[in-house]
Amino acid sequence: MSRLLLIGAGGVARVAAYKCVQNSDVFQEICIASRTLEKCEELKAELDCKGTEITTAQVDADDVEQLIELINSYQPDLILHLALPYQNLSIMDACLATGTDYIDTANYEPRDTAKFEYKWQWDYHERFKKAGITAILGSGFDPGVTGVFSAYALKHHFDEINYIDILDCNGGDHGYPFATNFNPEINIREVSAKGRYWENGIFIETEPMEIKREYYFEEVGLKDMYLLYHEELESLAKFMPGIKRIRFFMTFGESYLTHLKCLENVGMTSIEPIDYEGKQIIPLQFLKAVLPDPASLGPRTVGKTNIGVIFQGKKDGKDKVYRLYNICDHQEAYKETGAQAVSYTTGVPAMIGAKMILEGKWKKPGVFNIEQMDPDPFMEDLNRNGLPWIEDFDPTLVP
Ligand SMILES: NC(=O)c1ccc[n+]([C@@H]2O[C@H](COP(=O)([O-])OP(=O)(O)OC[C@H]3O[C@@H](n4cnc5c(N)ncnc54)[C@H](OP(=O)(O)O)[C@@H]3O)[C@@H](O)[C@H]2O)c1
Repeated sequence: MSRLLLIGAGGVARVAAYKCVQNSDVFQEICIASRTLEKCEELKAELDCKGTEITTAQVDADDVEQLIELINSYQPDLILHLALPYQNLSIMDACLATGTDYIDTANYEPRDTAKFEYKWQWDYHERFKKAGITAILGSGFDPGVTGVFSAYALKHHFDEINYIDILDCNGGDHGYPFATNFNPEINIREVSAKGRYWENGIFIETEPMEIKREYYFEEVGLKDMYLLYHEELESLAKFMPGIKRIRFFMTFGESYLTHLKCLENVGMTSIEPIDYEGKQIIPLQFLKAVLPDPASLGPRTVGKTNIGVIFQGKKDGKDKVYRLYNICDHQEAYKETGAQAVSYTTGVPAMIGAKMILEGKWKKPGVFNIEQMDPDPFMEDLNRNGLPWIEDFDPTLVP
């Protein structure tokens, strides 16, 4: 008998809830709790919860006391945090106070600085270990599946991995001149930051979108992709022995980049508060309010995502290359869960990570990144739960 407290009711939480209900042998009871109670109730009403008992609750996840009160009254075995990266530490504090396991999909970001790193959450390791509770960090697609792919490649195909290139391609078209596929505030903070990649023990910084490459993505086509900093670079650099270089590339269309540049140039992506008619407002939060809600993109997005990892390293003294990737169709994701593929490719691994902990496969006191866990049961569950993976033993490399 297991009981999950799912925090958040956005695109990713929606997919995770659909997938939990499809795995009701593990998820017997779920409470969907978020800032806006109506969104939790709307989601509950849509779910076909024959085998899973679903309740809802209102909670401000920035408030540790409110979280503790909810946890004490619901008594969950695990918290699946699918609200925003600003809430990671308050939720981890509430987990420590109540002895509850924790899992998330994105690392902590302070609200007032566009900076994300694992340091803050890694600092909880000794306290989680002492309390005998588990925290798994980054169980989405990237980070998430990319880390599981890395652990799987190392376990089954390499003695040593020296080069990792993560390629995230969204070939979807939503028909709007500009919209973001997940939370606009988080998305724009990520893509407007300086680029960074890891090489020979240090991070090398680039200007935003300075490094551009072309790559042919199966079932999507030839795309321009740009080097970005992404959080799994930090954890893979720490946990992959023998690694020499890790890069992360994401595809962007011309229209997206032109709009983003223009919004940046006029100051709309700034997170510095400004005075507007006697009120303090943050331009990026105002921009979020006028952009299409990512949740509304589902019905209009067509095309596919193709996200994966290319590995180069050594096996039995010989050079070896290997690629693992997944292709996900926006419309199929929408038909199944009411959300497009970007939410789908995050919500499915979030459910699987939660399942790993609840089934005891990933239960270990302390704070861990996903690549530190045994990848095999997770890989099997990806195939069973709508994100099958493809192997390529002769992939095109990125120059
Ligand atoms: N690893 C990956 O591959 C990956 C990919 C995409 C996204 N993500 C992460 O997934 C998470 C969810 O993304 P999303 O696209 O679903 O975002 P979203 O649609 O904006 O949903 C966020 C949800 O969190 C709720 N929320 C915000 N602040 C809250 C608070 N203080 N207390 C309680 N609930 C709060 C929101 O409530 P309201 O409805 O009231 O606003 C909303 O329901 C984010 O952390 C994002 O960074 C990870």
